[in-house]
Amino acid sequence: MFSSKKDTNTERKLDMDRIPAHIAIIMDGNGRWAQARHLPRVAGHKQGMQTVKKVAIAASDLGVKVLSLYAFSTENWKRPATEVNYLMQLPIRFFATFVPDLVKHNVGVMVMGDITRLPGGTQQAVKDAIKDTADCDGMILNFALNYGSRDEITRAVRSIATEVQNGQLDSAAITEQTISDHLMSAPLGDLADPDLLIRTSGEERISNFMLWQIGYSELEFMPEHWPDFDGETLKRAIIDFQGRHRRFGGLVNK
Ligand code: IPE
Ligand code: IPE
Ligand code: MG
Repeated sequence: MFSSKKDTNTERKLDMDRIPAHIAIIMDGNGRWAQARHLPRVAGHKQGMQTVKKVAIAASDLGVKVLSLYAFSTENWKRPATEVNYLMQLPIRFFATFVPDLVKHNVGVMVMGDITRLPGGTQQAVKDAIKDTADCDGMILNFALNYGSRDEITRAVRSIATEVQNGQLDSAAITEQTISDHLMSAPLGDLADPDLLIRTSGEERISNFMLWQIGYSELEFMPEHWPDFDGETLKRAIIDFQGRHRRFGGLVNK
């Protein structure tokens, strides 16, 4: 009997010994989720924030070590001011209600992106959340906020060039590790590269997210809009990931 790929996936069980260490998610589809309900786009962002809470706890419970979430891109400033303003206020509301839960689950907050362009109150909320969870050594919840990978790489090149110019670094000594060390994901060390990258809402593109770091990530494009995503959807993505053979350019090791 033939069974489709999807059937096989639902039959397969989650292997708790092979949970991807770093999962990155392009949280997409908030606007479409709202529009399908005849609600304003921002209602999708509000619901999406609840999803972030659910999925962060689910990932932490599964033993994920880093969960990177694309929350606002360097290109999202192109959206109407009302929507941008709403998105800028969301971190304030999110951390005000969620930091105690994060602490309870031993989850530490980290941010990639230029937060100096965010409104003062938002910057403060982000800094407070990082400070308030500084002692948590469980999962790292890494928000990409005003983040774009081309911006990240441009800044890295600039800072490496400055070190060379100042005689601190020999250009011949620049390695792949030098580049990684200058990216915004550098604090993640060995965990900087996602094992699994999920994008919700059916779009199959990267939209300037962690371009260097996803060189060998497994990609999972899922039809669910972000507000409909949950712990079960996350498990399905991980089960699918566990059925892949990662080769890193070598041969299958089975
Ligand atoms: C993702 O949902 C959230 C952000 C990009 C901030 P969208 O707002 O992109 O939703 P769609 O893609 O328009 O449905
Ligand atoms: C990517 O989604 C950015 C975030 C999820 C924050 P977009 O909705 O902005 O991406 P495009 O415009 O569809 O490529
Ligand atoms: Mg979108």
